[in-house]
Amino acid sequence: MRQEDQILQGETLLRYLDEKTTAMAESVYANPVSDYICPDQAQVEKEQFFRKGPINIGLSCLLPNPGDYMTHDLTGDPILLVRRHDGTLGAYLNVCRHRGARVADGCGHAGAFTCPYHAWTYGTDGALRGRPDERSFADLDKSGLGLRKLPVAEKYGTIWVSPAPGPAFDIGQLLDGLGPDLAAYNLESYHHYETRVLRRELNWKMVIDTFLETYHLQFLHAKTIYPILHTNLATFDAFGRNLRMIAARRTIEQLRTTPKDQWNIIPFTAVVCVLFPNTVFVMQGDHVETWHAYPSGDGMNQSTMRVSFYTPQPPTTEKAKAYWDKNFDLLMATVEQEDFPMAEGIQRGFHSAAQNEIHFGRNEPALQHFHKSVRAALVGLDRV
Ligand code: FES
Ligand SMILES: [Fe+2]
Repeated sequence: MRQEDQILQGETLLRYLDEKTTAMAESVYANPVSDYICPDQAQVEKEQFFRKGPINIGLSCLLPNPGDYMTHDLTGDPILLVRRHDGTLGAYLNVCRHRGARVADGCGHAGAFTCPYHAWTYGTDGALRGRPDERSFADLDKSGLGLRKLPVAEKYGTIWVSPAPGPAFDIGQLLDGLGPDLAAYNLESYHHYETRVLRRELNWKMVIDTFLETYHLQFLHAKTIYPILHTNLATFDAFGRNLRMIAARRTIEQLRTTPKDQWNIIPFTAVVCVLFPNTVFVMQGDHVETWHAYPSGDGMNQSTMRVSFYTPQPPTTEKAKAYWDKNFDLLMATVEQEDFPMAEGIQRGFHSAAQNEIHFGRNEPALQHFHKSVRAALVGLDRV
């Protein structure tokens, strides 16, 4: 967060504490249950958000060195991302131009990609470099048979990709004012500690919802997070379709005795940003977490998520590693044992005759903004 914003946000949080209040929306918002269970909406979301994009993939340090690559299949299309020799990123459809096999799997380091089927070989720039028994294909110009390129961009230490070939895009424009906030974290210097993949029986938006209010901390997380964070208290700011919500740690009281020009509010807060549509970025004081939620299965009731943990430096000692492992395990235990079982119960209840709408209170402005933004973005969805 930018220094000039730190004082403003710190003052706001201390005022909310004093006045026992939180950021408030204009009114309560009724969100249709169909938002989570309508097959038509799920189809439009899949086409517009996940197969067209652009979407955030993670931080730049997922691929720190030339030759580093990763495959990514959760949007529904097979993507191959690689750090090219000039340091820029390449993104391609992970589909061989001979007969369509995957040219790479998992992640790793490579100077070229050789298709496992008949050994056509592609450079990290995607160009077709060689094919065995060249005479049998000599009629086909190699230059037109490179891996199909996808639009990819990198800025503020974040990576974004469009899963379908198309025009270039601008990350600054996508972030709509949130960019300088991310830039201030110097994410380029971070280290990718670990990524875990989870599958749950809930709509992908429910994964995002999990992080968008502090109203539940006192109740659902009475023994885990509530002792650390203030409940029902957070700032809210919209940046176009994105948003930022700042929750206060109980240690924030220390700010009261620190001169304002020396304020660094990051250790005393948890900063949650939605990078529209499917990414939650959390600055957790001493590390960063990202959550990327994708529809899976029927697109309505199942989702797959990538949870990544990034640290300011690579751990160099066993003690440091044990510290980060404990942190990651605590995070996972909280969401796996408390948030997601609750959310799965909600998802099942959506199919009952209980109600056609759920309600986001005035104290849940981030939830309101996220769901209004999703609806506004879904071109072609019949609004009921
Ligand atoms: S499918 Fe890749 S070389 Fe044949
Ligand atoms: Fe929670």
